[in-house]
Amino acid sequence: MHRLFIAIRPPEDIVDLLIDIMDDGPELRWVAADNVHLTLRFIGEVERPLASDIADALGRVRAEAFALRLTGVGMFDQRNGGALWAGVEPKPPVAALAGKVERACQSAGIEPEHRAFHPHITIARYRRQERSLAQDFLERSRGFLTRDFTVDRFILFESRLSRHGAHYEEVASYPLAAKE
Ligand code: 2AM
Repeated sequence: MHRLFIAIRPPEDIVDLLIDIMDDGPELRWVAADNVHLTLRFIGEVERPLASDIADALGRVRAEAFALRLTGVGMFDQRNGGALWAGVEPKPPVAALAGKVERACQSAGIEPEHRAFHPHITIARYRRQERSLAQDFLERSRGFLTRDFTVDRFILFESRLSRHGAHYEEVASYPLAAKE
């Protein structure tokens, strides 16, 4: 089985800015630089033939490159903990690309995603007892803002879970058309 998801990978200097706002405290589980991404569509575990169909369908997605920046931070807070994330702006082009990716996945036979799309880049996970540390982080990093960068491709990733945590492997990369 292959655990797949489709994501955007920001350029290295933008990833570096995210690393800079992560503090050195061991309490929150910070995402490793190599794992930083914006998920367009989480697929989950699929067999090899379906994985190939998804890869082929994604190759038929037609969309233009667009500018994006990271701005602000927030939390998805649940009873047992949650995630800290960086936000993105503007949202319409990233939502449009996610919509095309969603349609491609459905054309390959994947069930529709009914959850709303909230574009974000997860930067840490925390447990319930670390919630106040997570809130301190939000206070400190509220003004986070990067330069605009160009999103000129999206990527099909395979997530491999091991003792050392998740490792994301690039399966295929799909270019977006240069802006007219
Ligand atoms: P997250 O960053 O909000 O946790 C790989 O696991 C990526 O797919 C993560 O970025 C994760 O989002 C996203 N994802 C979305 N739905 C998921 C799910 N049900 N299980 C695991 N990851 C999911």
